[in-house]
Amino acid sequence: MENTHNFFLPPKNLIGVGAIKDLPTELLAHKLSKALIVTDKNIISCGYVEMVETILKSLFISYDIFDGILHPNATVSFIEDGLTYLNKGLNPLKRNYDFIISIGGGTNHDCAKGIAIVATNGGAIGDYEGYNKMTKPCLPVVAINTTSGSASEVGNFTIVTDESRKLKMTIGDSKMMPIISVNDPMFMVTMPPEVTASSGIDVATHAIEAFVSTEASPITDSLAIDALKIVFGYLKRTYDNGHDLEAREKMMFANVMAGMAFNNAGLGYVHSMAHQIGGFYNQTHGVCNAVLLPHVLEFNSVSISDERIFRISEAIGIKTHNKKEAVKKIMSSIQKLTEDIGIPTHLKKMGVKKSDIEFLSKNAEKDITSSTNPRQGTFVDIMKIYIAAM
Ligand SMILES: [Fe+2]
Repeated sequence: MENTHNFFLPPKNLIGVGAIKDLPTELLAHKLSKALIVTDKNIISCGYVEMVETILKSLFISYDIFDGILHPNATVSFIEDGLTYLNKGLNPLKRNYDFIISIGGGTNHDCAKGIAIVATNGGAIGDYEGYNKMTKPCLPVVAINTTSGSASEVGNFTIVTDESRKLKMTIGDSKMMPIISVNDPMFMVTMPPEVTASSGIDVATHAIEAFVSTEASPITDSLAIDALKIVFGYLKRTYDNGHDLEAREKMMFANVMAGMAFNNAGLGYVHSMAHQIGGFYNQTHGVCNAVLLPHVLEFNSVSISDERIFRISEAIGIKTHNKKEAVKKIMSSIQKLTEDIGIPTHLKKMGVKKSDIEFLSKNAEKDITSSTNPRQGTFVDIMKIYIAAM
């Protein structure tokens, strides 16, 4: 029986407190000379860009900074602005970048990947929606992460809001995989509590969706379950004290582990449905996931084995041998954690309107992350899940 599980990961991953100090050695090995830094003004004000500039200067790598990412959702227009900067800078020194350095969270990495895709493949970012649509390698991306959530720095996906269609496109291709990822908790301590909360619950969602995905493997299972344990052990502590470096480091590992799991096992309805709310109402990704996660789990539970449900419940500290009870307790544990970190538990509170649900459901059904959901429903089923989460 043919049953393959390819595993993708950046070739170099610098992880842990102080990991940034290894970046110069890794950059030297690539013999790169001109960088476009893709970031936002908040990250600049935190001093993280300046730290990277010092490294680049020491290596005689020239650089420019594109800081045109203006809100926490990657959009077609941010990518187009970045490409304009990349291609048409008036200063001739601004041309011929041979790599991109993304500094920030998932939004910045997703924009950087989008710029890197179009820079070498041409056309528009929308041309690459779906899986494996690129023909050429992307401009190399070095991703320096400042959050613990999206795992975009270790993944071959970019999620981009198409403002004209009011939805998020999912673009997947191993050609966009960063050549180096950096996850140093020193770059995460200034993350505000609301970002710690939304990115942290995104990690839990990645872990659960990867664990129940149709493409899960023993490798992704181990990563997902351990990541889930860490989120339930440390997210609240990190939310309460962002400068708790031990908790930050734990959440950083959970982010990378859940990222490795979902990048290779796939996701499911929580993400395909959350993408629509994020794209339509410009809502934060992790918050959308948090509200939907318990309801999607309930819908999926008939297609998830008892053993898998018990492994999830055990990971989050629930003791029961009754599947129905376990599902209910997992749902309430997720909602409790969500409330504890200040995230709304109902879609209504996020401005979602009943009249939009049909539109959202039709697009969620088409989103490629739906394909690995363990239970395939109709768009009416998806509508019912949205309504349950209202
Ligand atoms: Fe996510």
